[in-house]
Amino acid sequence: MQKVSAEIYNRINNIIYNQEGDRWWQPDFSLNLIKTLMNPVRVGYAKKALDLNKLIPEGKSALEVGCGGGIMCEEIARIGFNTVGIDPSEPSIKTATEHAIESGLKVNYVNGTGEALPFDDNSFDVVFSCDVLEHVQDLPVVISEISRVLKPEGVFIYDTFNRTFLSKLVAVKVLQEWKRWAIMPPGLHEWEMFIRPEEIKSLLVQNQLVWKEHRGIMPDVSVLKIWYYLHLRVKGELTYEEFGRKFNLVESSLMNVMYMGYAIKAGI
Ligand SMILES: C[S@@+](CC[C@H](N)C(=O)[O-])C[C@H]1O[C@@H](n2cnc3c(N)ncnc32)[C@H](O)[C@@H]1O
Repeated sequence: MQKVSAEIYNRINNIIYNQEGDRWWQPDFSLNLIKTLMNPVRVGYAKKALDLNKLIPEGKSALEVGCGGGIMCEEIARIGFNTVGIDPSEPSIKTATEHAIESGLKVNYVNGTGEALPFDDNSFDVVFSCDVLEHVQDLPVVISEISRVLKPEGVFIYDTFNRTFLSKLVAVKVLQEWKRWAIMPPGLHEWEMFIRPEEIKSLLVQNQLVWKEHRGIMPDVSVLKIWYYLHLRVKGELTYEEFGRKFNLVESSLMNVMYMGYAIKAGI
């Protein structure tokens, strides 16, 4: 997989993360769905992967690349890691910093990009990148930077969107374009930047990261119910938070829309 062309990259709306004010933790912004829908499945998955690899968090360090307003970083800190979050969006870093103080959590937030991580080689025991890899322009460089800052035998945990017919229908057409159901801002995701599992696997292998597994992420209710909830949200009858509490996203063998996985950095 190559760096995304400027033409495609200019279509993604990464500006949304730079708008002033807290767009992450408020019940009536779309980014709040990360807390209600994404975090339960991805945090559960991360804990299992860490347990399987006998990685005890106490005294260990974790980095989240593309931490936004800190919704995932706070969970990483709660798991017990000394946690650092990095994101190119200054307003998001400000929100994350203020929210961690409110939550009584110690997280070190840094402004910067995944393409140029300002950390020494072999700095972290775990690196997370959740719902971010499909937002970056130069994925090969981001993966190589993640591998560089990860300690040998450290764990890289990620989730992202697959590039399939179904993901175009669900993540782009229904959620962003078709007005009756579109609860996400246009351009939030750009289908051409989605990543097939075999593409990420190949980048991991090229960067001394031993790929371990992929698991799909799917809703636990019928499509009809989701379409109904989406329409209620569009009509303003549910807040984003209420919408996100109507159903769960769960681990699945189906990876056509979203999936998560992990890899281990090869030992020396
Ligand atoms: C959908 S949000 C995910 C936020 C966070 N990971 C979470 O799950 O709560 C995508 C984030 O990726 C960040 N991002 C975009 N381009 C990036 C890059 N080149 N390097 C690191 N982060 C980037 C955005 O600023 C935004 O905060």
